[in-house]
Amino acid sequence: MYKRKILNMIILVVGMIGIFSCEYEKITYDAPDPTIPVSYAADIQAIWDKGCVGCHGVGKTPPDLTAANSYNALINGAFVDTAQPEQSGIYTCMITGGSMAAYTNASDAGLVLVWIQQGAKNN
Ligand code: HEC
Repeated sequence: MYKRKILNMIILVVGMIGIFSCEYEKITYDAPDPTIPVSYAADIQAIWDKGCVGCHGVGKTPPDLTAANSYNALINGAFVDTAQPEQSGIYTCMITGGSMAAYTNASDAGLVLVWIQQGAKNN
């Protein structure tokens, strides 16, 4: 009996390690490499152009995410918090459960987070 309990415990622990390691793999797969410099003009604006400017255009719903205005709109509108990047409104609206999540995906949201973590530069 006692040996069987120990065996069951071992199976449970190994199973849990298996489950958590899968989850870990999945997260690292989705997250962009934080050491690669993100370009606002090339990488982030492309996300806005792809899924956002249809509604967030000039004179439409703020923030204006068109190429000429998006950087200033985000910084001046306080959608970016470089002290607490994960609290930035532009990031939280894009992740699962966020109000704009339907128009984007996890890897683009991850790229936006890395851009903010790297100082939200207009580069
Ligand atoms: C189908 C139209 C539509 C699309 C596409 C869209 N938005 Fe929005 N967005 C809105 C509307 C309407 C609001 C204002 C009401 C609200 O907050 O839901 C808004 C609000 C916002 C806000 C302000 C939220 C706040 O809490 O103040 C941000 C930031 C934002 N959108 C970012 C984005 C981003 C980034 C994308 C692209 C990934 C996007 N939106 C795509 C319609 C859209």
